[in-house]
Amino acid sequence: MSVITCVEDLRLLARRRVPRMFYDYADSGSWTEGTYRANEQDFRRLLLRQRVAVNVEKRSLRTRMLGEEVAMPVALAPTGLTGMQHADGEILAARAAQAFGVPFTLSTMSICSIEDVAAHTRAPFWFQLYVMRDRDFIERLIERARAANCSALMLTLDLQILGQRHKDLRNGLSAPPKPTLRNLLDLALKPRWVMGMAGTRRRTFGNIVGHAKGVADLSSLSSWTSQQFDPRLNWNDVEWIKRAWGGKLILKGIMDAEDARHAADCGADALIVSNHGGRQLDGAPSSIAALPAIVDAVGSRIEVWMDGGIRSGQDVFKALALGARGTLIGRAFLYGLGALGEAGVARCLELIRNELDLTMAFCGLDDVARIDRGVLLEPPR
Ligand code: GLV
Repeated sequence: MSVITCVEDLRLLARRRVPRMFYDYADSGSWTEGTYRANEQDFRRLLLRQRVAVNVEKRSLRTRMLGEEVAMPVALAPTGLTGMQHADGEILAARAAQAFGVPFTLSTMSICSIEDVAAHTRAPFWFQLYVMRDRDFIERLIERARAANCSALMLTLDLQILGQRHKDLRNGLSAPPKPTLRNLLDLALKPRWVMGMAGTRRRTFGNIVGHAKGVADLSSLSSWTSQQFDPRLNWNDVEWIKRAWGGKLILKGIMDAEDARHAADCGADALIVSNHGGRQLDGAPSSIAALPAIVDAVGSRIEVWMDGGIRSGQDVFKALALGARGTLIGRAFLYGLGALGEAGVARCLELIRNELDLTMAFCGLDDVARIDRGVLLEPPR
C-alpha cells in the first residue's frame, strides 16, 4: 500500500501484517458484534451543519484533559496485548503519543511493563487498572504506577467478567502464540512481525508475570481473567482505590446515568462513557448514543469523555458536539501500530488531527472549545 489516506487504510495494512489471532483480538466484539458495529455506525447517522463565509484562518485544537494540555482532545486508550500487534508496541505507541502531545494509557494487560514504558518515554503516561482478587497485587500495581510517575490512574469497571469473543476462542488466543501448525503457517506469512518479535524479550504480560503470586507464565488472557478479575467489585472498592492512589482518577466503562452519578459522587476526576469497544455487553447501545444522557446527568460535576467507534476526526468532532470533553481511540491506533509501528501510530494521530481540523473549519469554527450541539443538523438521538 502506498498512500495512507485514512484509518481504514491502516486497518487493511495491519490485517496483512499482524498474525491473525492478534489482529482478530483487536478487531472483534462480543457475541453478535452488534454493539461493536453500532459504535461506528451511530456516528455516521449524525449529520453536520456546514457553515460558510466565517473566518477560519487560524484554528486551534489545543485543549486540556484532566488539566493536562493536549494537542487535541484525543487520548490513546488502554488496550490489552498491544505489544503483540507489533514488537514493543506499548513503548512505540507511548512515544508516538508523547511526540504528538496527547496522553497514552498503559493497560494492566500490556506486554511491556510499567517500568519499561517509563524507562523509554519522558512524558508521564496514565495507567489503567483492573481490580483483581489479590488486593496486595493491586496495591503493588498502584505503587509501581506511582513510582513510574504516572499522572493518572484509570480504573476500568466493565470487565470484571470477560465477554465472549468468538474469534478469540476459535483462534486459541495466547501470548506468545502456541506453535501449532495453523499458527506457524500464519506466522510464515508475517515475516516483519516475526523479525520484530525475535528482536525483543517482551513477549508476555509484563505487568503480571513475575509480579503476581503463583503466576510464572501466562498463556491465556481468558483463564487469567476468570481466575483473577474480581466480580465482587463495587463502589466501596472504587473509593478504596481512590484513597490508595491519591492522585487523579478516571473511571472507565460507564454507560448509565445512575452509574455516572455514583462516579461523580465518589470524587473521580473524569469518567469515560464506554462499552469497551463492544467487547463486553453485546446489546448495549453505542457509546455515542449513550453519551448525551450522561453529559446531562453529570457533565457539570465531572469531565465526561467517551470511547468506542472513533475512526476519524469527524467522529471526534461529533463526540465533542454531544458534550464529551475528551475522547479516546483504541483500535484506530492499534491499526496504525500493526501496520507501521511507531510511524503508524503517528500517522493515525495526524489523520485524525487533520480531519478534525478541516471538519471544524467546514462547520465555521476556529477552536475546539467552541464545538457544541449546535454543529449538528439532526437533534441528538
Ligand atoms: C481487554 O481489555 C479486552 O477487551 O480484551
